[in-house]
Amino acid sequence: MEFSQSIDRDRLPRHIAIIMDGNGRWAKERGEDRVYGHHEGVLSVREIVNGCAELGISYLTLYAFSTENWNRPAAEVNALMELLVTTIRKEIEELKKNNVRLHIIGDFDSLPDVCRNELNEAKEITADNTGLNLVLALSYSSRWEMLQASRRIAEDVKSGKLMPEQIDDELFHQYLNTAPFPDPELMIRTSGEYRISNFLLYQLAYAELYFTPVHWPEFRKQHLHEALLNYQQRERRFGKTSEQIQTNSHQHV
Ligand code: FPP
Repeated sequence: MEFSQSIDRDRLPRHIAIIMDGNGRWAKERGEDRVYGHHEGVLSVREIVNGCAELGISYLTLYAFSTENWNRPAAEVNALMELLVTTIRKEIEELKKNNVRLHIIGDFDSLPDVCRNELNEAKEITADNTGLNLVLALSYSSRWEMLQASRRIAEDVKSGKLMPEQIDDELFHQYLNTAPFPDPELMIRTSGEYRISNFLLYQLAYAELYFTPVHWPEFRKQHLHEALLNYQQRERRFGKTSEQIQTNSHQHV
């Protein structure tokens, strides 16, 4: 496949999902507290949100806080929650200006009141925006999401609203937190770990996975562009043969 140094705007993923990893290690390497790494990570969030908006990407999902992250020391959890609130407050004008719409996935009820209020307000303020959809995964884990979906499906079957035969891929998708969004075509994980860590397990079924050693606080537009170039050099087959894809290539990217 031909190597191109410039991004082909006609073959961009519609949806990029990112596991923002390495804030703590980046800070430790500098002799700083882990929380310092999270603060610096916010600068990367801002740059990547703008980078995606500039490219015309429709959906960006960021794994900002996992269900498992509740097990971190209370001081770090509190600092992350506070950082979330102050960041949303500070960035809301920028989100409005850049036509970004905010969405949340995850166990919203488990978040502190002050976070919920701030996020609800930001969601409302950006609800009519038509550019990038920024999806923050907060208190999110994929197994949690799928169990919730299964429970609700079981309830609907029990109450007669649904027949077991109706449960297919499309229906299951409707019961997930990500129901309004298409599946990500590209998942990026920073900081050199090769894991999915309970993130969008169902939705990433056909995603291209991109791993980079760069720690999240150092992840900049240039790194996003590298990931996109790498994505565009891959052939997405969806279980088909190379020949089938080449004859139908216009339908698939
Ligand atoms: C992973 O690094 C990062 C997190 C658990 C938090 C990510 C949060 C932010 C970047 C800031 C808030 C986000 C928004 C959207 C305002 P780690 O702590 O797991 O790093 P380590 O693996 O090196 O310990």
